[in-house]
Amino acid sequence: MKLIRTTNHLEMSKIAANIILDRIKSSSHITLGLATGGTPIQTYAHLAQDYQENQTSYQHVSTFNLDEYIGLPEEDPNSYHYYMYKHFFSKVNLPQDQTFIPNGLAQDLEAECQAYEEMIKQHNGIDLQLLGLGKNGHIGFNEPGTSFDQHTHIVSLTQSTIQANARFFDSIEHVPRHSITMGIGSIMESKEILLLVSGKEKNQALNKLIHGQIDEQFPASILNRHENVTIIADEDAIMDT
Ligand code: GLP
Repeated sequence: MKLIRTTNHLEMSKIAANIILDRIKSSSHITLGLATGGTPIQTYAHLAQDYQENQTSYQHVSTFNLDEYIGLPEEDPNSYHYYMYKHFFSKVNLPQDQTFIPNGLAQDLEAECQAYEEMIKQHNGIDLQLLGLGKNGHIGFNEPGTSFDQHTHIVSLTQSTIQANARFFDSIEHVPRHSITMGIGSIMESKEILLLVSGKEKNQALNKLIHGQIDEQFPASILNRHENVTIIADEDAIMDT
C-alpha cells in the first residue's frame, strides 16, 4: 500500500480529487466506486469546483456507491442517495442513469443485493474505488467479522457504527440498524483503491491497518492484499503510526 501524508484534511481532499480527475480524464469510460460519510465531503467539493472552473465531463463516467441504509427513503437527508445528490451528482454533468446506489427500500432485499452485484459486473467492475475508514476498521458497512469473500449483502450495524453515525441524525434512535453494502469481495475486485483517512479519531484504526495482522475482525486489513491501494491520510490520522 502506498501512503501519501498530507498536512491537513483540505490537502488530503485536493490530492484525492486530483487523482480522481486524472483517471476520469485519461479514460474513454470509467466506473467509479463512491463512498459517503464525513471524510470525502471536501473531495466531492473539489470535484464540484473543478467542474465549475473547467467543465470536466462526466458523460463517460458510471458510479456505484458502496452502501445505503435500509429503510430510509431517497429524500431523507440522511440517506446516501440524498448525500450523493447534494454533494456530487447535482454539481457535475453525470447522467443520472449512470449512477447506482443500493435501494434500501427494495421489497426483496436479497434480490436487490444480487442485482447490484450483477450491474457492477456488467460495467466490467470498478476501476477506481474511493473508501473511508470506520473507527472499528469497517469499509463500506462491512463490520468486524464479515467474511472477506462476501459480495453485496445485508448487514446489521454494530453499536460502534450506530454511535459514530448518530451525529448526522436527530437522535441515536433514528439511526437505521441495517444497511446494504458492497462486500469485501466486491471491493477487492476493484482495479484501484483510494482510501481517505482523516482526524485523530481514526489514528488507532490507521495504525492497525498499517501495522496489524490481516484479520476478518478488522475488515480494512484485507487491503494489504490488494496490489493497487493508495492511502491518503492527514497528520492527525497518521500521528504515532
Ligand atoms: C460510514 C460509511 C462508510 C464510511 C465510514 C467512515 O459508516 N458507511 O462508507 O467510510 O463509516 O465515515 P466517516 O468518514 O464519517 O468517518
